[in-house]
Amino acid sequence: MSEPTWHKACRLQDVTDTEPVGVKLDGTPIGIFRVDGRCYAVHDICTHEYALLSQGWQDGTWIECPLHQARFDVVTGKCLAGPAHDDVAVFPVRIDGDDVWVGIPPKP
Ligand code: FES
Repeated sequence: MSEPTWHKACRLQDVTDTEPVGVKLDGTPIGIFRVDGRCYAVHDICTHEYALLSQGWQDGTWIECPLHQARFDVVTGKCLAGPAHDDVAVFPVRIDGDDVWVGIPPKP
């Protein structure tokens, strides 16, 4: 499997446990979430319809979609509650100093 390409996503201080950050990296919308000091990255588009999960409501490891309130685990990407059914993709995260880096896999 090919290695991801790492992209600087945001500064660590920009993400809090209740305020995610949405960015676009290599054309892919990514939501950056912080839970107990660790950062996680998931595909930012809800798998139900079109809404940015980074604009939803976060409580611990889960994020609630702002449009119809589906819930996803930001650590695993797992869909926890409908109306969505499919999980969201997760991406590897690295912290380098004050910067948050996200690995984006090569496009097929
Ligand atoms: S768009 Fe997210 S639950 Fe409908």
